[in-house]
Amino acid sequence: MVDTKKLAVVLVVDDEPAVLETFESILEGKFTVLTARGGVEALERVTKESINLVFLDITMPDMDGIRVLRKIKEYDENLAVIMATATDSARKAVEAMQLGACNYITKPFDAREVLAAAEKALAQEKLRKEVIYLRSQKEEIKFDNIIGKSKKIREIYKIIEKVAENDATVLISGESGTGKELIARAIHFNSTRREKPFIPINCASIPENLLESELFGHEKGAFTDAINQKLGMFELADEGTLFLDEISGLRFDVQSNLLRALEEKEVRRLGGTKLIKVDVRILSATNVDLKQAVQEGKFRQDLYYRLNVVPIYLAPLRERKEDIPVLVDHFLKRYNQVFRKKIEGLTQEALECLMSYEWPGNIRELKNVIERLAALKDDGIITHKDLPFDIFVNSSLAKNFKAEGGLKEAGKDFEKKYIEAVLERVGGNKTKAAKILGIHRNALFNKMKSWA
Ligand SMILES: Nc1ncnc2c1ncn2[C@@H]1O[C@H](COP(=O)(O)OP(=O)(O)OP(=O)(O)O)[C@@H](O)[C@H]1O
Ligand SMILES: [Mg+2]
Repeated sequence: MVDTKKLAVVLVVDDEPAVLETFESILEGKFTVLTARGGVEALERVTKESINLVFLDITMPDMDGIRVLRKIKEYDENLAVIMATATDSARKAVEAMQLGACNYITKPFDAREVLAAAEKALAQEKLRKEVIYLRSQKEEIKFDNIIGKSKKIREIYKIIEKVAENDATVLISGESGTGKELIARAIHFNSTRREKPFIPINCASIPENLLESELFGHEKGAFTDAINQKLGMFELADEGTLFLDEISGLRFDVQSNLLRALEEKEVRRLGGTKLIKVDVRILSATNVDLKQAVQEGKFRQDLYYRLNVVPIYLAPLRERKEDIPVLVDHFLKRYNQVFRKKIEGLTQEALECLMSYEWPGNIRELKNVIERLAALKDDGIITHKDLPFDIFVNSSLAKNFKAEGGLKEAGKDFEKKYIEAVLERVGGNKTKAAKILGIHRNALFNKMKSWA
């Protein structure tokens, strides 16, 4: 199979041309090899080019290898450096390791040893990136099943299958809670990048002045608070997927930088000079109409086209009501497990209430409702009386509701639900609730006593 992935870039630093040649012949084909004839040239390359690993000779006439190492680490503490030493300079090798070199090899060089050291160092570099990435994840990576059987969701399954196979840029739009992030995760975890990071970044919730350094990273001293060098999300997501959530929240100038990064497949850390190659798949999401934002001049048109190569639109739940029963089943199963309950299901009436409700918060709201029902009930069947007041009164059932005991009972039932809803809203404070209800506190107490 032809490996089309880009090769890692290895810089070999030695004052002897013959040594450089030996390294080149060993590393060629597996890595992109750059060379430097001394410390000064090495530092110049490190600061200008995107390098993954350095083989550094310890004894060089123009600048001692240890000094070069210090400078490299000052510039980029994450860059992997392997020292190349003569057998008699073991003491220096130890010093180098303490300064942050990741390994050392001794002359004369054995091809197998050189390759193994390079591969190990690069694997460690990757691992380190992954650790940084995992720490940055608030939530563990998960792949929730996407539930639904409506025509609309079945069409989405098809698109996911298709785009998971390639690297197409996808823009997912839909109201809040419709499952945009779930879809983005599904695309990533079904793609060839699944073993690599999936990094979500919420463009609307990160303070504007920080967003750029979150995305692209920064060098030490790039601005007042930049005490250390920081890798950006693009670098951390290398070979994986970057999920740009609420993309409309991007400031205009950051939009330009993002477009450049997408087109050139390169990023520059803030305050940095060199361009760093990145191989990142971009998925983005929006709950506002991005096209309209373009028309209003709030979003760059060129960036919009770049992101919207494959559009996925998630319809609100109220437009795919056939999904409600399967979603309810799914969430009920899950929360029965979570809370160790044995709830069997919902009555037909209760389900009708859920089906006729408008679900402004979409699937997230439905999920929360089921979670709450499961938390409150132990077993048996959920009836319409168990449902939150808002859902009950907004449903068609309430409009056609016929209480068993006639109007009087219905009135009582309604009153109870209403009072409960008010109480909930004021956190159980009866004085406040009574005020809102327009009755005396004692009257509220009496009513509550009558339910017991
Ligand atoms: N089809 C589905 N099947 C199962 N669970 C779903 C489905 N769609 C959404 N969910 C669940 O609903 C919740 C909300 O989904 P998600 O966070 O993906 O929505 P979103 O569109 O990103 O919302 P927002 O715009 O508010 O960020 C999540 O817990 C998700 O797992
Ligand atoms: Mg989301």
